[in-house]
Amino acid sequence: MAIPFFDNLTTFSRENDGILDGPAIAWLQKHAIVIAALVSCAVIVWYYRQIVVQGSQLLENGNLPSAVDIVPLHDFHWDETEPLAYRPFKSQYHLTMGVQQAEVSELIQIDRMYLDRIQLRKDLIARHEDQVLAVNPPAIEAVRELYSWLVDQYLPQRYGDIFELHRQESSGNIETFLQNKVTDDIVPIDPSLQSPEDALRIIGRQVEEDFLFLLPSGPEEQLVLEAYIACFPAGFAWTMKRGKTLAEIHQPVPDYKKKLQLSMDRFLSRLEPGKFVKRLNWSITPTGELFALQDLHNYGGHEEELTLENFDPSKACLRCERQTLHRLPKSRAIVFTIKTYMYPLDSIKAEGLGSQLAEAVDGLRNGSSPMMYVYKNAVSWGKVVQDYLRSESSQS
Ligand code: HEM
Repeated sequence: MAIPFFDNLTTFSRENDGILDGPAIAWLQKHAIVIAALVSCAVIVWYYRQIVVQGSQLLENGNLPSAVDIVPLHDFHWDETEPLAYRPFKSQYHLTMGVQQAEVSELIQIDRMYLDRIQLRKDLIARHEDQVLAVNPPAIEAVRELYSWLVDQYLPQRYGDIFELHRQESSGNIETFLQNKVTDDIVPIDPSLQSPEDALRIIGRQVEEDFLFLLPSGPEEQLVLEAYIACFPAGFAWTMKRGKTLAEIHQPVPDYKKKLQLSMDRFLSRLEPGKFVKRLNWSITPTGELFALQDLHNYGGHEEELTLENFDPSKACLRCERQTLHRLPKSRAIVFTIKTYMYPLDSIKAEGLGSQLAEAVDGLRNGSSPMMYVYKNAVSWGKVVQDYLRSESSQS
């Protein structure tokens, strides 16, 4: 059957050497409106896919962002990748939510500290499980939902050089496993094959991020901490936060009620699945310990000043937490992740930022919430750390 448009185009390319002949022009003029409408539709569909669908990391069938949204890191050499270098301290501390939009791909960060940190996490899970892991019944589905997305989609898609999916037939059934090529761990994919506690243990042994699950509860739908795998507490015990609302969890934070509570509750209640946000915090740790159940905060009464004799500058670090928040589509749980970075004070000095950090320590009491200076326990380490940061000496 002859198709006039293609017949005419054939004529155009073969016989007229680049010049449209009369019938082709007449045909194009006749169908100009239809062609314009088709082109416009194609542009609209393309725009929708590029900007609207990909921009908001739209979910398919109520699932978390699928493999197409997670950008793979090809030729990724974890052992040659430097940890992200955050320097969030400022000359004045202002208490704000400080959240920024994030991409799903940047949820999990892996760098050259990976193996050491994973070994430490395995050890902490084995020796202090009561402190680092918990699941309350309302969070069981949320734990399973996150688990299957992480091991089946996120990790093999983003970090294919580390995490490889294997399918294998066993008694007529196809079983899928995830192999961690750095640790040689083999991880089952199906979350129903293990308890929610096992699912959290497995997550805790594969990535450095701590994961906390909050679910709405009670008539006011207040977010309550119902589950966690959290190996690197920053000076408090997660066990004391279990089953508590966000307001109760943040009770020791100066000015939280006055300056953060309302905006945070509103922000989190409106956080839709597919949106990811991140924020940072910072403090100083004189010991550089990742698993710190105490001593990083001053919850009142403790005013002992750290002296040069009991301060070891080779251990002291700037401790930054990279935190992310997103909502799971099925369980509607809010997932809070924390990756903890430790930067030795010597490295800050080596970058020439010693005096800026020393000034930021004073900035804790000069900003919008002066009690932050006490809360972050600068009453103890402030002077000795500032002296060290401003001095010429270094321990390297
Ligand atoms: C937009 C969300 C959030 C904001 C703006 C926020 C803000 C803060 C701030 C300003 C502090 C104290 C100072 C600091 O560490 O920098 C803090 C501490 C803390 N936050 Fe959050 N937070 C958020 C979400 C969460 C979530 C979802 C949890 C879930 C468990 C959480 C748990 C904690 C805990 C445990 C502390 C330490 C409290 C203590 O000293 O006992 N935060 N948060």
